[in-house]
Amino acid sequence: MGQLVKQIIDDLAKPFLEDLKELPLWIKWTVIVITCAATIPLALIFRARTSFSDKPRIHFIQNMDNQPKYVSQEANALFLDGRAMRPRVEGTIPRNGMVNDTHLYMGVVDDAWATEYPSALTVDHAFLVRGQGRFNIYCSPCHGVGGFGDGLVHHRANQLVETGVNGTTWVAPKNLHEDVIKEQQVGELFNTITNGVRTMSAYASQITTQDRWAIVAYIKALQLSQDADPASVANADAIPRKSANEGSSE
Ligand code: HEC
Repeated sequence: MGQLVKQIIDDLAKPFLEDLKELPLWIKWTVIVITCAATIPLALIFRARTSFSDKPRIHFIQNMDNQPKYVSQEANALFLDGRAMRPRVEGTIPRNGMVNDTHLYMGVVDDAWATEYPSALTVDHAFLVRGQGRFNIYCSPCHGVGGFGDGLVHHRANQLVETGVNGTTWVAPKNLHEDVIKEQQVGELFNTITNGVRTMSAYASQITTQDRWAIVAYIKALQLSQDADPASVANADAIPRKSANEGSSE
């Protein structure tokens, strides 16, 4: 059997190899170079499939995609100070940038936190409803719809901390029913929303001044809802009440 295979190889392959040996050198080299070059497209395809880029792979039609421009912090020889970003022209103020009413815009009256709402605002039912809507949109993800600091983001972050994903760390959102927060004046709450506090970010850029005050009013209503004096409600005795240990706030 082995003999037969050897015989076949000798008969078929030998003459072929003999012929190959006689090929001119330049043909051999051409074949080698073409074979090597043939792997380049494969390598490029492999690279394209395994790498990431935010640019189109092939960009034949340029349209106006590439234009001369200056990006932030770039140098520009046109100006004496060499900066492309120009400082604000002296003496100008941006629209909405003028703080002439510290009570309304900063929650500050005579260098202390305002204890009253700014006179420009009417705190009525519609105002509270507006505050409730804004609170549920902007604050409840962390502080919870009831303000107890138990929002969905809080739960999710705790999960991530437990599983150690990406080295997550998390500072719990404050329970807005804590005494320290309940004792805060409206001006201080307004300032917390406007400028943020410690790890909590600022909301001035997302929520208008008026709406920030509406949220403050709603927080006060939420706090009141947890330990209101029954005497403040007419006919309180006729309203069914939970006993003290029924339904805890946690
Ligand atoms: C992304 C989560 C998150 C959102 C959204 C958020 N907060 Fe907070 N908030 C926090 C955290 C965290 C703290 C505690 C910060 C700390 O102690 O470092 C906090 C603290 C507070 C405090 C306590 C401030 C103090 O003096 O201790 C108030 C009041 C508050 N938030 C109100 C709000 C209001 C109102 C909104 C909506 C406009 C809001 N927060 C939205 C995370 C959030």
